[in-house]
Amino acid sequence: MNDLFLKAAFSQKTERPPVWMMRQAGRFMPQYWEIKNKYSFLEMCKTPEIAADVTMLPVDLLGIDAAILFSDILVTGEAMGGNLSFEQNVGPRFANPVRTQKDIDNLNTDCLDKLQYVADAIKVIQQRLKGSIPLIGFAGAPFTVMSYLVEGGSSKDFKLTKLMLHNEPEMAHRLLSKIATVTADYLNLQIAAGVNAVQIFDSWAQALAWDDYTEFSHRYIVEIISKLNRKDIPVISFCKGSSVFAPLMAEAKPDVISIDWNVDLLDIKKRLPQGIAVQGNLDPHILYADKKVIKERIYRLFDRMKGENGFIFNLGHGIMPDIPFDNVKYAVEVIKEFKY
Ligand code: CP3
Repeated sequence: MNDLFLKAAFSQKTERPPVWMMRQAGRFMPQYWEIKNKYSFLEMCKTPEIAADVTMLPVDLLGIDAAILFSDILVTGEAMGGNLSFEQNVGPRFANPVRTQKDIDNLNTDCLDKLQYVADAIKVIQQRLKGSIPLIGFAGAPFTVMSYLVEGGSSKDFKLTKLMLHNEPEMAHRLLSKIATVTADYLNLQIAAGVNAVQIFDSWAQALAWDDYTEFSHRYIVEIISKLNRKDIPVISFCKGSSVFAPLMAEAKPDVISIDWNVDLLDIKKRLPQGIAVQGNLDPHILYADKKVIKERIYRLFDRMKGENGFIFNLGHGIMPDIPFDNVKYAVEVIKEFKY
């Protein structure tokens, strides 16, 4: 197995930084559309052979150092009872938003059987990978999943979610606690099915004030990580806002923290305890720029991280759907040719 990613995740020395990118299997790829035009997004996630086909696209076409399961963070919300759909140009929607104590009571936490298709997909993907590179599983963090359940979809300001945190904190905790229970079970299901690493996505944590992040997000990530069967399985903690929250995120004891692009990666790594690797942190917008700029910015980041064990190249957030495929391919080539 190409174990660059696992070595770096465990803060061991590698001859070059490993590379994978968030949303590496997605709409920026013409080949993704060939599949997407035939099936709905949820059909793709729930049909193991199709989920495996999509997972393999960046493996075959880009040659990245780790694959990530094709799925979505919102499948836990659906398994708990959310009526989930993904609509073109609208994004995710929960038709039955969770806003009252009764709504929360109605959510099911004994729902792993509804996520069995993910375990099945992992098995098919591992057959396809044949041990060539590691497979990353993932789940959404409770706060981010909560925001979709409460708002009923994507939101710019998380107004209803924050109102629940501020006006009805006990209710919010009951909801977060239920999501955290399912999330830990779900990640352990993925580990049992054969993933080689897991990442927790708290994409919208940056919306929270420090105290609220501590009380309503961080504490549930601590709980989830403490419950994981993580022997030999690195745990990556990602949030937008990690440039501020990383020292606190470290207290949950992940192996890797995925850092957004607002901070100098070496500076933040030096502020973390020894043995915690960093992942990141190129601004994804760089991949819109000229190739000369792409190469220059990747080298600048690598120069900065020179001599540091525990560095995985990634973007500070996911690839946007309209980034030219050719630029992403070029970036991966530049990284793979690099030698310290
Ligand atoms: O990274 C990967 O390639 C693996 C697959 C993956 C998807 N979603 C596929 C997807 C992963 C890891 C996710 C995580 C996810 N989903 C997050 C956290 C990561 C992040 O980017 O912050 C979030 C917040 C979601 C929720 C979600 N799912 C949104 C907001 C959307 C719509 C996006 C939009 O701009 O319309 C989705 C849909 C989604 N998830 C797509 C893909 C490939 C697009 C579906 C389509 O083809 O229409």
